[in-house]
Amino acid sequence: MTITGPTTEADLAFEDAEAAFLADHPAYGETALLDELRATEYARLDELGHVYLDYTGGCLYAVSQVEEHRRLLCEAVFGNPHSVNPTSSGSTVLVEQARAAVLRHLDADPDEYECIFTPNATGALRLVGEAYPFAPGGRFLATFDNHNSVNGLREFARAKGAEATYVPLAAPDLRVAPGVLERYLDDAEPGTNNLFAYPAQSNFSGVRHPLEWIEWAHERGWDVVVDAAAYAPTSRLDLSRVKPDFVPVSFYKLFGYPTGIGALLARRDALARLHRPWFSGGTVVAANVQGDLVVPLSGHALFEDGTVDYLGIPAVEIGLRHLERVGMETIGRRVQALATWLLEALLALRHSDGAPVVRVYGPQGWDGRGATIAFNYLHPDGRVVDERYVDRVAAAHRVSVRTGCFCNAGAGEIAFSVSRDTLIGAEFEDGMILDDYLLRVGMPTGGAVRVSLGIATNFRDVHRFVALSQAFRDLGAVPSDLPPRLAC
Ligand SMILES: Cc1ncc(COP(=O)(O)O)c(C=O)c1O
Repeated sequence: MTITGPTTEADLAFEDAEAAFLADHPAYGETALLDELRATEYARLDELGHVYLDYTGGCLYAVSQVEEHRRLLCEAVFGNPHSVNPTSSGSTVLVEQARAAVLRHLDADPDEYECIFTPNATGALRLVGEAYPFAPGGRFLATFDNHNSVNGLREFARAKGAEATYVPLAAPDLRVAPGVLERYLDDAEPGTNNLFAYPAQSNFSGVRHPLEWIEWAHERGWDVVVDAAAYAPTSRLDLSRVKPDFVPVSFYKLFGYPTGIGALLARRDALARLHRPWFSGGTVVAANVQGDLVVPLSGHALFEDGTVDYLGIPAVEIGLRHLERVGMETIGRRVQALATWLLEALLALRHSDGAPVVRVYGPQGWDGRGATIAFNYLHPDGRVVDERYVDRVAAAHRVSVRTGCFCNAGAGEIAFSVSRDTLIGAEFEDGMILDDYLLRVGMPTGGAVRVSLGIATNFRDVHRFVALSQAFRDLGAVPSDLPPRLAC
């Protein structure tokens, strides 16, 4: 047997770093199952030389998920579930099985929660926004670091005469300062409908806001949306312990495949207070044309417009089984160790003159955060390195990260200290592209760089990312031929 040892200086550096990492993070050793899966289920990453660090954008699927789904589709006949024929019933059984599996995964009591299938988390939020009984005197309240798909709820609120307000975040951690949320929650008008929305984990800063906020808000007369899209892929939201009224998720973010399916988990009592603005096929017991009759269905059926993705939804159950086999705790432990190491390594990078190479937006250590890290590289004089150049360097190394604002406008405004006064005065005029607007509001860049870890991340990935980051040490000017920024 030939034993081959490390051959290059880089290999040796990697092995030393890995040994130190393993010594510092003994819990990582308990996640060895994920190394096996990396070599089997996710082997394509290493075969193709990719470093994938955009799990908050989308998780990667295991090969066996796709194979199991393919087998299912190839070996059975499925019809539209709106019929009662045998192939239709076959679809219904699998859709209902998947619905039950989603509730089980979140420890949601089916007597208390409904699972409504939607196209994605955004679709789930839209269902809430268009049907929530906003009215004059009522409020929509959101933290600054919501995804734009949550921010968009303010349009529904304002259209019905309710007020929309934001709870500010404090830099540099991008958390809500103690005492501030309570002041905003205390503002609810008694007897009106008030909706508070926040992300369990910010898709910008990785901040994990306290789940205790749900009860604080309930006690003060608010319904609560907890956006779990960025939280659920690496942690289990336990709906037997916390009781938000509405929880949107996207399944591709949890296990990569299928895309195009999400869910709204909704408390039955909160759901009963929504008023859908229309009816459609699939949501009514009966409707007629001449008598103007509409008899709505109830529960999830009232909210699933038309035909659900009955061929795709069984893949949700397959994906959940995959997560259960791995264990959410295993995923959580793994990304905690890797993100802790990565944060320390990035923050330790220095230019020759001792100036930092990286500015992290959000918590600088692991406490109260998830494995989503937003930052910018800095030139030695402290200017932010253009994120389009970062894209170029990363692509040259086959590294996938996200750059820009991540559809999270508010967190970016705080991170880059863009004031309300600046934004109120700055029109986005006809013919302008995003670049013109950024210039007008004085943004130092088009956004940040986001690295996010997930089920298949290993130490080599984060180590390669830190090695790539050396390219930004002592960086002078960036090339002038970077592509224009057209949209955020
Ligand atoms: C926190 C958060 N909420 C909502 C969304 C919207 O998800 P989707 O685009 O799947 O609807 C995302 C997507 O990145 C997200 O990170």
